[in-house]
Amino acid sequence: MYGTGKDVQCMFKWTPSLSVGVDVIDLQHQELFMLFEGISMDIQEYKGQERVSKALAFLDDYVRKHFSLEEKYMRVLKYPDYDSHMSEHKEFIENLGALREHFEKGDMSTLIYEITGVISHWLVRHVANTDKALGSFLKDKMDNYYE
Ligand SMILES: [Fe+2]
Ligand SMILES: [Fe+2]
Repeated sequence: MYGTGKDVQCMFKWTPSLSVGVDVIDLQHQELFMLFEGISMDIQEYKGQERVSKALAFLDDYVRKHFSLEEKYMRVLKYPDYDSHMSEHKEFIENLGALREHFEKGDMSTLIYEITGVISHWLVRHVANTDKALGSFLKDKMDNYYE
């Protein structure tokens, strides 16, 4: 047994306190939390290798798509903290790569430990701090634009 589904559900809840104030980004964050929750549940409920493999591949794509969107906003609007935000994204992509390696080696206990520990904390911390800072920058720009 890797843990209980109940613990995981709490860990991956997106709450309004994590809102960055920009709808498209918030919607993608909610989707990301749901994808992580789904993968954790699948692993813990032994839903099968193929399903987990597909879910990890989908997650990888989704994360890249999400990061590209934020990075595009940052470039277009000349966000001053672009480099440090980018390096956090890069770190996350590396963590995801390590996850897939654990999965391919069949190391499920490390996989679940990383998803529910390292990854979930990273995600919450990144959204709550780094993405929120970006969100208020974007909101300011938009408010000025429409004034
Ligand atoms: Fe970000
Ligand atoms: Fe984000």
